[in-house]
Amino acid sequence: MTDVAHDLVIVANRLPVDRVIESDGTTTWRRSPGGLVSAIDPVMRAHDGVWIGWPGGTDQDLQPFEDDGLQLVPLSMTPEEIEEHYEGFSNGTLWPLYHDLVAKPEFHREWWDTYVKVNRRFAEKAAELAAKGATVWVHDYQLQLVPQFLRELRPDLRIGFYLHIPFPPGELFQQLPWRRQILEGLLGADLVGFQLPGAAQNFVRLVRQRVGHKTHRDLVYLPDGRTVRAAPFPISIDAAGFEDLARSDAVTKRAEAIREALGNPRKIFLGIDRLDYTKGIYARLRAFGELLRDGHLGVDDAVFVQVAVPSRERVEQYRLLRDEIDRLVGRLNGDLGRIGRPAISYLHTSYPREEMASLYRAADIMVVTPYRDGMNLVAKEYVACRIEDDGALVLSEFAGAADELRQAWLVNPYDMNGMKAALLEAYQAEPRELTKRMKAMRKQISQHDVKAWADSFMTELADDAHHSHSKTVR
Ligand code: G6P
Repeated sequence: MTDVAHDLVIVANRLPVDRVIESDGTTTWRRSPGGLVSAIDPVMRAHDGVWIGWPGGTDQDLQPFEDDGLQLVPLSMTPEEIEEHYEGFSNGTLWPLYHDLVAKPEFHREWWDTYVKVNRRFAEKAAELAAKGATVWVHDYQLQLVPQFLRELRPDLRIGFYLHIPFPPGELFQQLPWRRQILEGLLGADLVGFQLPGAAQNFVRLVRQRVGHKTHRDLVYLPDGRTVRAAPFPISIDAAGFEDLARSDAVTKRAEAIREALGNPRKIFLGIDRLDYTKGIYARLRAFGELLRDGHLGVDDAVFVQVAVPSRERVEQYRLLRDEIDRLVGRLNGDLGRIGRPAISYLHTSYPREEMASLYRAADIMVVTPYRDGMNLVAKEYVACRIEDDGALVLSEFAGAADELRQAWLVNPYDMNGMKAALLEAYQAEPRELTKRMKAMRKQISQHDVKAWADSFMTELADDAHHSHSKTVR
């Protein structure tokens, strides 16, 4: 497959599947966690592209392969690269820095060196696979230098970059010792996409101040005559796909079985997140616990189902978080639960789409309370699955999704009383109120699905009206 040149190359830190070695020694592939993979999968299928990414683990010399109709090219990482590029610079430096310093970022020169090295290797692989004049779409914070390296190798390519996480204001970004290199790395792209308008503005302002290029609105003018556009493209989900799944018999039955297994409480609260300190899991469980303790809710009436998907388990901050949540859930259940009626039903695991859809259908109140989140696709998935126009969404103002889902109960996750009040209001809301809100949110999601997102990015990338180079014709 590698000797064929491709018209669309997707470059992301992860492949859409992870290599898993079973206990009997056989190898299987499992869908990777996180919003990025769910979003790109349909784009790949529509454009028949090839996807370059790390398959998880430390296996070396894996060959390109096809999985479920997708052409995948695994890039291996050594244990040192995983530690310094993935766990280190990507998730110990950039992730907390870009998420409002919810945790303290660490700055290590060795991590940076490995980040550069790994970014270079991704760029070289993309350069090797792309046809003349092809489109290369690079994704997310782990690969911000790829656009620049790739342009040096292949000036004929159309290069797009999309950041799935927030892009911070200058006050935070400027802490980064390598701030200029990151900005220059991104400027290798023709189009740099962000979730929200504010992020694109942060980027353009920083480029003007730190790199000294001329800018006008969303355009950056480079000394070599090239123009780079920075613009918002709020990401979404396969709304129709989730809706169909939610309507299926299997999911309908499973949703009933879930309610039954929980003892048919009056209302089910639900949280589904990667186990990440940005997600505000601790605060929301505490808020729910206080509502029980204060007598506003009782364990016969309400249960909180929290699914925490294991994530980045070798990174210290994530280990600490897991211990904190374990302790909190244990304490709340010990203090507030009764036999057969735990306050929190806590699951540290990941589920396939069907089970997620069943949980969404079973839940009356979806609770999404990140301190900062690029978009948050779980909030959108919940809405898409509420085929009966009921159910309440409690959503943090600091999730990108709050810009679109205005009819949610919007909360500030730092405000414990505000969060308690919103949970209670959502719990007590009249059916008519719920329907009014949910209908409006469902309309928004069905009109702005992931296909619309990808199409608008790809169209904008192909459109060279803003660019001084003429479009490369193959
Ligand atoms: C977020 C990021 C993705 C990342 C995913 C899962 O959605 O934006 O880039 O892949 O989390 O995290 P992981 O570290 O497991 O790849």
